[in-house]
Amino acid sequence: MKPEFDPIFDEINQIKKAKNAVILAHYYQEPEIQDIADFVGDSLELARAAQNTKADLILFAGVHFMAEGAKILNPTRKVIMPDLRAGCSLSDSCPPEAFAKLRAKHPDHFVVSYINCSAAIKAQSDVICTSSNAVKIVSRIPKDRGVIFAPDRNLGAYVAKQTGRDMVLWQGTCIVHETFSERKIAQLRLEHPDAELIAHPECEPSLLAKSDFIGSTSALLKHVIESPKAKFIIATEAGILHQMKLKAPGKTLIAAPPNHECNCNDCPFMKLNTLEKVLLALKNETPEVDVPAPLREKALAPLEKMLQWSV
Ligand code: 13P
Ligand code: SF4
Repeated sequence: MKPEFDPIFDEINQIKKAKNAVILAHYYQEPEIQDIADFVGDSLELARAAQNTKADLILFAGVHFMAEGAKILNPTRKVIMPDLRAGCSLSDSCPPEAFAKLRAKHPDHFVVSYINCSAAIKAQSDVICTSSNAVKIVSRIPKDRGVIFAPDRNLGAYVAKQTGRDMVLWQGTCIVHETFSERKIAQLRLEHPDAELIAHPECEPSLLAKSDFIGSTSALLKHVIESPKAKFIIATEAGILHQMKLKAPGKTLIAAPPNHECNCNDCPFMKLNTLEKVLLALKNETPEVDVPAPLREKALAPLEKMLQWSV
């Protein structure tokens, strides 16, 4: 996978070896970052990889809540990011003080937070979930308990439908997954009647209702590899197409178009990371992501519960 002639790859690999560093990358990263990474995965797989790594230095090529999660799960390791400004609209939508007020209105409810949230929200939660395990996690909550689900209202609505649970939903959205144009997708389906529409559960409910398959980034990748179909319209961040092209080479992949003439199906936060910033971060061991011990300890329990509940 490594381009033979790119000296930056060699330099990164040398520093990685010298410092016993590991690069963990989300599927939404630039292809070249995915290619240099030691591990590429979705949020759940990356959390597990961060928890289990023996490396001294973790470079998290993803967004801030992911790097924070790595530090919470493996606090003796140094965690760095290529660009500290790589945030997330879902995480930003849910400030801790406002969330505490919602919890106070429903004191008996079980609090499930999507991993796309800050450590301060995780610390206020009973269990964390990702898009891979959200249905499984919510299904384990006793039927007589009310549920608060934050911060993604689309994933929350999808999980409520799948589990039959009535949930109080925080009204956050992902700026990438709410941007797909259903009109343009309908047009694409007319042009490609043999294509399956596959979508991430962060998409709007009306788009999910029209989709042939719904799943996390890993589930979408697995589906494209295993499905007998040859053509797919893919409604999620366009970075996943890189692994789909590598792992399902004969298939036709069409990125679902956004509403405007923009690249809005590229996450602007994920795409702040570049290969050059990966190199600099490894060289300088900065920017570092740290979580103060008391907060880290509170946020760890719901993350560990998620990992136990999703085996
Ligand atoms: P998954 O990695 O769980 O598919 O979530 C996608 C996402 O939006 C990550 O920010
Ligand atoms: Fe956040 Fe959406 Fe970007 Fe994922 S794709 S990091 S949910 S803004």
